[in-house]
Amino acid sequence: MNKGLFITFEGADGCGKTTQMRLLAQYLEKQGKDVLITREPGGKGLGEKVREILLNYDGEVSDRCESFLFLADRAQNIDIIINPAVEQGKIVLCDRHTDSTVAYQGYGRGLDIARINMLNNLATNGRKPDLTFVFDIDIETSMKRVGSDKDRMESAGKEFHNRVRYGYLELAKQEPDRIRVVDAAKSIEDIHQNVVKIFEELTF
Ligand code: TYD
Repeated sequence: MNKGLFITFEGADGCGKTTQMRLLAQYLEKQGKDVLITREPGGKGLGEKVREILLNYDGEVSDRCESFLFLADRAQNIDIIINPAVEQGKIVLCDRHTDSTVAYQGYGRGLDIARINMLNNLATNGRKPDLTFVFDIDIETSMKRVGSDKDRMESAGKEFHNRVRYGYLELAKQEPDRIRVVDAAKSIEDIHQNVVKIFEELTF
């Protein structure tokens, strides 16, 4: 049986990571690989209900409560979707994961990063992505792509999103082997070629 892989897609809102995840999935499927796509918050079942609260609840949400909801969803995604698929030898592609919590709740909201790392570790039971793509783009361009129909997180403002971007770049500096930064201002096709190149160059 093939060895399973766990790959995550990260970046600011509107960076194009979801499109790139789908394109990589198609590329891998054409090669006959068994691919599974999931997302955080979300995935399926209970995860989608947590997503609904996180993105659409319009009452007050404390920063710590927000973090725990993302983490609860992550634990469910790891236990019910990601771990079983990786163990069956699948290539699991996940739209956002632990680095989102460090970038958004840590760098963005200002919560303690050492604590977030500890909580992330609890939520994932120690499972780490084999590879993470960070799609980097300036905030003006990404916010234009998001448009005026913003969800709760997307409405957090320009300074917040600049801190998130900085957070991702810091994370990439700390873990250069796992986290690969991709210039997300290029065309969809150019970005896809870059993603494929990075994937093919890695020996897992
Ligand atoms: P997502 O659906 O990826 O948004 P988009 O499709 O616009 O890229 O993610 C939902 C939002 O949740 C996004 O604004 C980032 C945020 N988020 C966090 O703040 N912390 C987290 O741990 C995760 C997983 C997402």
